[in-house]
This record gives sequence, C-alpha cells and structure tokens, in this order.
Amino acid sequence: MKETRKTPPARELLPRHLGIIMDGNGRWAKARALPREAGHRAGAKVVREIIRYCAQLGIPYLTVYAFSTENWKRPPHEVEALLELLRGYLSDVEQYQKENARLRVLGELSPLPGDLQESIRRAEAESAANTGITVNIALNYGGRDEIVHGVRSLARDCAQGKLDPESITEELLSSRLYTAGEPDPDFIIRPSGELRLSNFLLWQSAYAELLFMNVLWPDFTPEHLNYALYQYALRDRRFGGV
Ligand code: FPP
Repeated sequence: MKETRKTPPARELLPRHLGIIMDGNGRWAKARALPREAGHRAGAKVVREIIRYCAQLGIPYLTVYAFSTENWKRPPHEVEALLELLRGYLSDVEQYQKENARLRVLGELSPLPGDLQESIRRAEAESAANTGITVNIALNYGGRDEIVHGVRSLARDCAQGKLDPESITEELLSSRLYTAGEPDPDFIIRPSGELRLSNFLLWQSAYAELLFMNVLWPDFTPEHLNYALYQYALRDRRFGGV
C-alpha cells in the first residue's frame, strides 16, 4: 500500500506534539548486506531531514526515540556507533540554530559517557532560547523508568513532609517527568511494521493517536510524513467523550 503523499494537511490540522519510534535500521542494512551500523547512519541522516521538515511545517514539539533503556543489550560496537551518531547531532550547533530548534534530551543521563553528557548540557543550554520547534531526543529513555523516576521524586517530597500524598494529581506526576511543561503527544508514528510502543512515552501517550507504517526508517521521507499527518488529520479524537 502506498504510504506517501505529496503535500501535508493544512497547518491547523497538524499535531502539536508528534512522536516517532524510528525503527527498521537493522533490517534496512541487512537487506543490503551491510553492517547494522550502516542502517543507523542512514537513519540518522533521515532524522535530520525529518526534524528540518517538521520545523518547516510548524510542528511545535517532536520527540524521537533514539536509544532506549533496553538498547544497552546490543553488541558494544553497535551501542558505540549509536552514541557516536548522537554526539554528532548534538554538537551540530549550526544545524539546530538554523532551524531555531530547542533541544531537550529525555532519559536517565548518568550512565552515558561523560563527554556525551557534556554535549547534551551544552546543546540544551545553547538552544534554550530558540523559539521554533522543540526537539526531544529520547536517549537512554524508558517510559517505565521515567515514571519510576517521577514517583521517586514525589515520594521524596512526601517523606520530607513537603507533600501530602492525597494531593498528588496526574498533573503533578506529569510535572516530574522528563517532558515536564510540554503537551502530551497527539500522534505517534512507528515505521517498520512492528505494532507496539516499546516503552515509549507510556504515561504521555494515554490519548495519542497511533500509526504503524511498513516503510523502514532509513527509507522514510517527508512524503511518508505527509501521508502520516494526513491520516492524523482524518482521525476523530474524542478523549473518552462522544
Ligand atoms: C531501531 O532500529 C533504531 C534504533 C535503535 C536507533 C535509532 C537511532 C537513529 C536513527 C540514529 C541516531 C539519532 C539521532 C537523533 C541522530 P533497529 O536497529 O531496532 O532496527 P531492526 O528492528 O530492523 O533491527
């Protein structure tokens, strides 16, 4: 089935927050008898293009799943290749300044190599005043891990007598997650034919519209995004109402 479209829907029909589970890099490489790292390199080129396109369309928030808490189980050379691609993106100041993009990294940063933590701090600080798209890079991110992290922070406040457990609300827990201050994702896309969320934005995706596509991430183009956004624009969102 054709999953592309030449033009995007009208601006007022776009999601405020789009999430993308970039998947299929390994299969793309395998089909070409290339090492998995080559698939990730191709995927990194694609994500740069898609970030640029989302910025151009005027999508306010984009979250891309770059490295999950489970991805450490991959062979060390693959992990290193992924971290190297992230280093490259985070230190490309010219690129995100040109897009007026604000970068945020979602995830538990302490297990990451020191120089990468430093690049993250620098990229977040240098782009903090940008007024265009907010690009969240989920890195060493897990939805359950994020919830545990948020719950621990609330529990600490309760233990210190600063917070009454009865006054904990959904909003309060949201404010302790990595996405604090951002709207929940309206729309999540997963290419490559897999039909699951894989621990991505579990709390925030409660009412997100989902789209699973067959294209592999390294083959994903702005025309695929146009198609996806058009599918989103056709959805009837009721949030539990009628
Ligand atoms: C899943 O494909 C993809 C990943 C685990 C990594 C995604 C990372 C990038 C595209 C590059 C770095 C990102 C930035 C923001 C520069 P897979 O390897 O699980 O594919 P498979 O299911 O076909 O094996």
